[in-house]
Amino acid sequence: MKEVQDHWFKLAKEEGYRSRAAYKLIDIDDRRRVLRRGARVLDAGAAPGSWSQVAAARIGHKGVVFAVDLTAMDGGLPENVHRLQADLREITLEDVGGEPFDAVLSDMAPKTTGDPTGDHFQSVRLCDDLLDQMPAWLRRGGNLVMKVFEGENYPALVKRAARMFEEAKGYKPRASRAESVEMFIVCTGFNGKNGRVPHQSDAILPKRRPSKGWGTPSAQD
Ligand SMILES: C[S@@+](CC[C@H](N)C(=O)[O-])C[C@H]1O[C@@H](n2cnc3c(N)ncnc32)[C@H](O)[C@@H]1O
Repeated sequence: MKEVQDHWFKLAKEEGYRSRAAYKLIDIDDRRRVLRRGARVLDAGAAPGSWSQVAAARIGHKGVVFAVDLTAMDGGLPENVHRLQADLREITLEDVGGEPFDAVLSDMAPKTTGDPTGDHFQSVRLCDDLLDQMPAWLRRGGNLVMKVFEGENYPALVKRAARMFEEAKGYKPRASRAESVEMFIVCTGFNGKNGRVPHQSDAILPKRRPSKGWGTPSAQD
């Protein structure tokens, strides 16, 4: 296992990428072509910036990347990368150029706590929050790649994504450590929907008169 880590780490150093994570996006894009030349791309959870480096090169100088992260990113990224230090859940489309994206990439991950179940729920929450933004942020036909920590709510998340895209499938890139619970959901062909299934308690049920024995008796009872 160490050898694999060393391989991607060394390669990233040699090739000038800010982290070994670059090879996860390269692998995903080589297989699924989520990045097209001239595209507008949102890179969510972008620091230190290796996905932005990869995306900027693949979309070319006519494309643009908006790189957002809670933590500050060093300068020196390609010219077509705009950096923003912010919580992705607290910004609007206006903060990232004001026009819908052709592709959204999310390598966002919660700070791990040592509680795998709690970390999983936090990770799925981040993904659901991101999916909620898609109708406003992603153009129809656009693509999304998002990282999630696998766990019991993973299948429901993939199902939600499948309602929103022509295709949504989990993929484990070669550069992802085998022992890591991270998976990448690769979604292509956005259909403009939100994909949430309303919770049963959200449903508007026909109003019924309270039956006897419930609450305060009224004059009718
Ligand atoms: C694995 S790192 C990303 C690595 C990056 N893709 C690269 O290639 O350099 C995950 C990042 O997600 C960021 N993150 C987590 N939650 C976030 C949020 N709500 N908004 C913005 N960034 C967030 C973290 O600050 C962290 O830098």
